[in-house]
Amino acid sequence: MATTLITNIGELVTNDPRAADLIGAIEGAALVVEGDRVVWTGRAADAPAADEVLDVGGRAVLPGFVDSHSHLVFAGDRAQEFAARMTGTPYAAGGIRTTVAATRAATDEQLTGHVARLVGEMRRQGTTTVEIKSGYGLTVHDEARSLAVARQFTAETTFLGAHVVPEGDADAYVELVTGPMLDAAKEHARWIDVFCERGAFDVDQARTILAAGAAAGLRGRLHANQLTYGGGVRLAAELGLAAVDHCTFLADDDVAALRDSGTIATLLPGVEFSTKQPYPDARRLIDAGVRVALASDCNPGSCFTSSLPLCIALAVREMGMTPAEAVHAATYRGAEALDRDDVGALVPGRRADLVVLDAPSHVHLAYRPGVPLVAATWIGGRPV
Ligand code: NIG
Ligand code: FE
Repeated sequence: MATTLITNIGELVTNDPRAADLIGAIEGAALVVEGDRVVWTGRAADAPAADEVLDVGGRAVLPGFVDSHSHLVFAGDRAQEFAARMTGTPYAAGGIRTTVAATRAATDEQLTGHVARLVGEMRRQGTTTVEIKSGYGLTVHDEARSLAVARQFTAETTFLGAHVVPEGDADAYVELVTGPMLDAAKEHARWIDVFCERGAFDVDQARTILAAGAAAGLRGRLHANQLTYGGGVRLAAELGLAAVDHCTFLADDDVAALRDSGTIATLLPGVEFSTKQPYPDARRLIDAGVRVALASDCNPGSCFTSSLPLCIALAVREMGMTPAEAVHAATYRGAEALDRDDVGALVPGRRADLVVLDAPSHVHLAYRPGVPLVAATWIGGRPV
């Protein structure tokens, strides 16, 4: 198989877990790709010969971003709702129903086109793996087709029939979600998720829905503690879920439960930017020994950004993370949040999913907010 040597890398972020520093940074580095894999990393001076050579002129190379939380399958937008929030109207889960109506009215082709556009945006901003949830269909037919659309773009599809109760009685809706909707969704989904929050589903309902998903072969993840304190994070820890997402309102017990369970806390700072809620306290979590990931939560309501560079900048500026911690959280921890050991790091054997930055180091992602620094994104050993 042909090999490519990427050389003259100003800073290579490997995320090698055996390195002395968190992100396994190598200065004056090179990397060799064979097929879709990384086969060698090290100092440029020691690099082996390869079939092709690419000189990146001192730019930084990072693992591609792993966005472990998004809601890309929807139609319409809620720009007016955003504008109202900026003048004081609080965010509430009920706005989800506006998007449900627009999504049900859209054709499969429209939904597919919309996801393609957003995945394209993500790639241009360095995202190489994305998780995509359903959750704006909320009928058997519309959830199944949302997941079928998502499945065309990623293996990381998540059934979120339990986003809100769309209409009618909550108990009857939970029966629908755990029965016919799950049956129709499971062939297209790897994960199951519940929005566990006031105005959506409570802890008992979440437990029931996650158990039904597990029985159908879907692994669990959870939206919890976004708008209020509550038992969602502790439920995720008790069940040993891969990740629990938002984690904005946490009691000391919640932090201890995350630390003890190893469940990843996925923080979504774009949401707090767009809802004017307080940012989650990443420093408190990391200092307590919790593994923290960063993701976009790209959706038309609480956060319509597809940009992990923005999330990294916010996490550094507002949440007490160092630039290295934020980059690690958006790459290595994102992969862990999806239970993936083939992405999130640039070490021999992992996929050659990478970002070339128009900057000499990862720090520039936070230091130069809002600047399009992604010069190239490679997926599976090729630029995309
Ligand atoms: O993760 N919190 C629940 N779901 C989304 C928001 C969905 C919406 O407002 O449309 C979120 O923030
Ligand atoms: Fe979400």
